[in-house]
Amino acid sequence: MILEAKELNYFYQDGDSRRYVLKDTNVGFEKGKFYTILGQSGSGKTTLLSLLSALDSPHSGNVLFNEQDIKKIGYEKYRRNNVGIIFQSYNLIPAFTAVENVLVPMAITENEIPEDQKTVAYNLLDYIGIVKSKADRPVNKLSGGEQQRVAIARALATNVELILADEPTGNLDEEMEQEIIDIFKKLAHEHDKCVVVVTHSNEIAQQSDQTFMLQKGKLSAYE
Ligand SMILES: Nc1ncnc2c1ncn2[C@@H]1O[C@H](COP(=O)(O)OP(=O)(O)OP(=O)(O)O)[C@@H](O)[C@H]1O
Ligand SMILES: [Mg+2]
Repeated sequence: MILEAKELNYFYQDGDSRRYVLKDTNVGFEKGKFYTILGQSGSGKTTLLSLLSALDSPHSGNVLFNEQDIKKIGYEKYRRNNVGIIFQSYNLIPAFTAVENVLVPMAITENEIPEDQKTVAYNLLDYIGIVKSKADRPVNKLSGGEQQRVAIARALATNVELILADEPTGNLDEEMEQEIIDIFKKLAHEHDKCVVVVTHSNEIAQQSDQTFMLQKGKLSAYE
C-alpha cells in the first residue's frame, strides 16, 4: 500500500456535541490503480482528501505513506515531495504561463528533477496535451479543460507516485471530462501511479479499478 488511512476521526464541535465527518475511517490505496470515491454532498469527501494530502490533520488516527506516518515525514515535506493534488477549480496562478505554473513545485521539491527543468515542464505539458504555443500563454487565457491539464502537469512535476484529485472534472463538459479521466487511467496503468479521484459521477466510477463509497463517516467498497 502506498497510502493508508487508519482509524481516522474528524469532527466539528456543535455546542456540547461532536458532529463526526469521519468516524474510525480506514482505507488503503495501491500503486498502478485508479480509484474513485463517491458520496453524497456533505459526506466528507473533501475532508478525507484534505487529510490524505496533509492540508489538514485528523483529531485522531493516522495517514501512512509507504508505511510511514505522514506526521513523522512532516506535513510540508510530504506535500512538497510525495503527493500531487488537483482541485475542481484548478488553483493555478492566473497571470503565470502554463509552463511557469508547472515550474513552481519543481522549485520547492527535494526530489530529483533533471537539470533542465523548463524542458521537463514543456515535455510534461506536451504529454498531457498542452502544446508549446499554449504552454507559453498565461493560464487565464486557457479554457477550463486546458487549465485542468496544466494543473495535472503541475501535480506530476515533482515526480510523485501519488495523485489525489477532488472533483477534477466538476467544471468541465462531458467530452473534456472523458479526456481528463483517460489521462488519469494512463497515469495509473502505464506509469504505475496511484490515482485517487473524488467524484459525483457514476460513469467515472465505473471506469475506475475500485470505487469506495463514503457514507456516515465510513468508507466501504462499492459494487
Ligand atoms: N467549518 C465548518 N464547520 C462546521 N461544519 C463544517 C465546516 N466545514 C465543513 N463542514 C461540514 O463537514 C461536512 C463534510 O464536508 P465536505 O466538504 O468534506 O463534504 P463533501 O463530501 O466534500 O461535499 P461536496 O460533495 O459538496 O463537495 C459537511 O457536512 C460540512 O457542512
Ligand atoms: Mg467536496
